[in-house]
Amino acid sequence: MDLGLTGKLAVVTGGSKGIGLGIARAFAREGADVVITARTQSTVESAASEIAATFGVKAIAVASDVSTMEGCQAVIDAAAQAGGADIFVSNAGTGSNETVADAPDEKWTDFWDLHVMAAVRLSRALADQMEAKGGGAMLMNASICAVQPLWYEPIYNTTKAALLMFGKCLSSEMIKRNIRVNTVNPGLIRTPDWENTARELRGEDWESYLQEVADEHADIKRFGSVEELADFCVFLCSPRASYSVGSAYHVDGGMLKTV
Ligand SMILES: NC(=O)c1ccc[n+]([C@@H]2O[C@H](COP(=O)([O-])OP(=O)(O)OC[C@H]3O[C@@H](n4cnc5c(N)ncnc54)[C@H](OP(=O)(O)O)[C@@H]3O)[C@@H](O)[C@H]2O)c1
Repeated sequence: MDLGLTGKLAVVTGGSKGIGLGIARAFAREGADVVITARTQSTVESAASEIAATFGVKAIAVASDVSTMEGCQAVIDAAAQAGGADIFVSNAGTGSNETVADAPDEKWTDFWDLHVMAAVRLSRALADQMEAKGGGAMLMNASICAVQPLWYEPIYNTTKAALLMFGKCLSSEMIKRNIRVNTVNPGLIRTPDWENTARELRGEDWESYLQEVADEHADIKRFGSVEELADFCVFLCSPRASYSVGSAYHVDGGMLKTV
């Protein structure tokens, strides 16, 4: 299937590793140019070089913190210089670990800025670029935790639920400008970060830790690969998904326990 993405420009936050890198690589494989962003300059630059060399597309690295206004502006400027965004994937994010009783206010506001305000600021500005090109697509990467919380991360659950609602509100507004907005709620996706956590907790036996997590949570009894999720995300952002508007899609191996 030709996804019709050749020559498009996709902006992927948190594109230097894990899911974001997988999504950026999948766009590039389909012939799209990419702008990838992360805070760590060396990692984001080497990821962009690898994408450009492997897929023969333009890959632009932006080192900035998207939880700040200035960090978002750097991404917006880079996309404008590259001709304007056609696609935006709000992916940068991270897990938390706390109790409501103990977490200070700053932790709540830091996660709000990263999971919600980055999406607000970037979608608002990138929409103008998309509209100037006739339309586009946006995808919020929330989490299954937006609807089915994990007990140890109330701040993550709450801010991802807010991102899910933001995506819905944004969609109704943006479709009038020919910009489709959807949300994806991944379950357990095997990233280097999960593997490092498993090594820290279990040392040499780390693979069995991941298997136990998968057995407990996912009906399919395994983690999803980054590629399995990335292919779905790229399809949703492509013209082939042209009637998908304002929806949330679970890619979770049966982890969601409700209908
Ligand atoms: N893995 C899973 O099982 C899973 C499941 C559901 C949802 N998700 C969601 O998927 C997204 C990606 O997760 P992942 O597992 O791929 O995480 P990851 O491997 O830790 O990668 C996170 C990416 O985001 C960047 N990033 C983090 N904070 C940033 C900031 N303030 N500004 C700019 N970039 C920032 C990181 O680079 P720097 O550190 O260099 O900034 C990195 O590129 C997250 O939103 C996460 O909540 C993941």
